[in-house]
Amino acid sequence: MSSNPFYKKHYTTVDNLTRANVMYLMQRADFMLDVISNKSEHIPLKNKHAAILFYQPSTRTYTSFHAAACRLGMTVTGIQGMSAYSSAVKGETLADTIKTVYQTTGADVIVLRHPDDDSSKTAAKNSYVPVINAGSGKREHPTQALLDLHTIYKNVGRIDNLNIVMVGDHLFGRTTKSLAKLLGLVGENVKVTFVAPKELQVVEEFIGELAQMGLAVELAYDLGTVLDCADVVYMTRVQKEWFEDAGRLEDYKRLKDSFILTPMLAEEMKPESIIMHPLPRTDELPPEVDTNPRARYFKQMRSGLALRMALLESILLAEVV
Ligand code: NCD
Repeated sequence: MSSNPFYKKHYTTVDNLTRANVMYLMQRADFMLDVISNKSEHIPLKNKHAAILFYQPSTRTYTSFHAAACRLGMTVTGIQGMSAYSSAVKGETLADTIKTVYQTTGADVIVLRHPDDDSSKTAAKNSYVPVINAGSGKREHPTQALLDLHTIYKNVGRIDNLNIVMVGDHLFGRTTKSLAKLLGLVGENVKVTFVAPKELQVVEEFIGELAQMGLAVELAYDLGTVLDCADVVYMTRVQKEWFEDAGRLEDYKRLKDSFILTPMLAEEMKPESIIMHPLPRTDELPPEVDTNPRARYFKQMRSGLALRMALLESILLAEVV
């Protein structure tokens, strides 16, 4: 296969992606799915090292990046408790930490999750090696967007002519922002309907940005009226931690159960449509929906492992064999 567009580059945002680049990754992720399910050996990154630094809680993103690196033959320095146990506690800047970890681990790539919106840009500016954004503040989650797109591509069979309903918290949540942008960048004829309580709805400026990318955007406040035309319903939780930080727990309690995809509501969706969720979930997606044939949120996580393998390989290897 020919050289790839991700080689030696940072991956901090979906903003610079093209359809060709994304399709390249989707195909590599398909290959990785086979590697995983066949338990075949594919260790092109032997002797390379990944530093995985998480300043915010995580289950899926952390374990899948860690496993992705190991499965490709890499060694890993992984720290999930950066905000509690690193020198951040002593006042060290992110810039210094990034330079430090390169020296102390010899990392070939740094994977970062951090509560600041600009964290991965700061890290990239100060890094000798490529930085991958594993979630930055309220703004971006660009690997989640890619794995979500992979799930759509595998389960709906296309990334064009789509009607996607995104539900939950579009103010503090980063997954719907990154996925909507990615769809705007690479999909043709895609419509996104954002469903949220007014206080957690997408902001005007972002709607303008999406419209400029050619995405059709609608806002809705009644889940029941938008489900029957959806190809994908993408649920998200209301982001408790940001309310907590702002001392607004009462608001969180008031808003958290605004939109719940009950088993009955899920039956209003087209039979061939799918239900996604980046997880973790709270009450917005009851476990009773798990047996609905449209549910894809567990399978979605396997796309996460495959996609992160594809991305690590693409960043660290000029040519794949
Ligand atoms: C998401 C996140 O961290 O933004 N989780 C994830 O990576 N799958 C969504 C969330 O926390 O609600």
